Amino acid sequence: MRIILITSGTKGGTGKTTLAVNMAVVLAYELRNKAQYPVVLLDLGLDSGTATMLLLGDVRAEIPYTLADYLMGRIPDPLSTLYVKTWQVGDETFRLVFTASISQYPGQVRIDRYLLRGLLNAIAAVSPFYVIIDPPALGLSYDVLTTLLEVSNNVVLVAVPDHSSVRAISNVVNLMRELKVENRLLRPILNMLNIKYPVDASTGLPWTKLVRDVVNIEPHVVPYDELFPIVRQALEIESLKLSFYESPALDSIFKYVDYLMEAVPPEGQK
Ligand SMILES: Nc1ncnc2c1ncn2[C@@H]1O[C@H](COP(=O)(O)OP(=O)(O)O)[C@@H](O)[C@H]1O
Ligand SMILES: [Mg+2]
Repeated sequence: MRIILITSGTKGGTGKTTLAVNMAVVLAYELRNKAQYPVVLLDLGLDSGTATMLLLGDVRAEIPYTLADYLMGRIPDPLSTLYVKTWQVGDETFRLVFTASISQYPGQVRIDRYLLRGLLNAIAAVSPFYVIIDPPALGLSYDVLTTLLEVSNNVVLVAVPDHSSVRAISNVVNLMRELKVENRLLRPILNMLNIKYPVDASTGLPWTKLVRDVVNIEPHVVPYDELFPIVRQALEIESLKLSFYESPALDSIFKYVDYLMEAVPPEGQK
């Protein structure tokens, strides 16, 4: 099972949740014939529950247990925090497993490394090819980031065209070096969410170059997309009767998923 951490370091609001949810849905779709539950989305944005709400829609009341209950020690079995969403496309179905992560205890839930390992062991029982980790919504502490690096194998850095964002991913790269972790850095993503201009006005350099200089890998650009704040989720685009290709950001996420499946191929299930 490949565990992929999406992170922007301490910078918030860079589109991580949007990218994580869409990547997870697209991956689950692409691998629908290879496993019953090919992908698990681990939503650690406990205080906001954004990913969970995107996936569940409005049926909060129907969730008996959330990941917060598990991390607070109120339930012993992390499997009871996993939910499945099923999509029907034509006469085919595919499924995404995700943690229901809405916190009833805002600001109180700690991400404990032993409990997190317990959760990942439980997820391994589902035999997914990929686990996508959407990190906490608010500024990530180095402590939590270190824990997340420890439990994952691959890292996707997400930056927006903003100097503080480039600095934040540079700090992650430095931390990884300092800790001598073995996580593989995948192609970083430059998410153009707040700007349509590819060149930084203060240095005259393209943002792609500024990101590449930090990570040493050419970034993958996800363009600004006015559909994203409205729909956010891959399959919603379909339900609005738009094709994937009418959404430039989603089209770009499909391309990133193709890259991902080649760079870290789905391993045979054990
Ligand atoms: N490429 C994009 N184009 C336009 N809007 C985007 C794009 N990516 C993300 N957004 C919007 O930016 C906002 C913040 O995204 P979110 O995924 O919640 O960020 P984070 O998880 O990093 O805090 C959301 O309203 C989302 O729809
Ligand atoms: Mg988020």
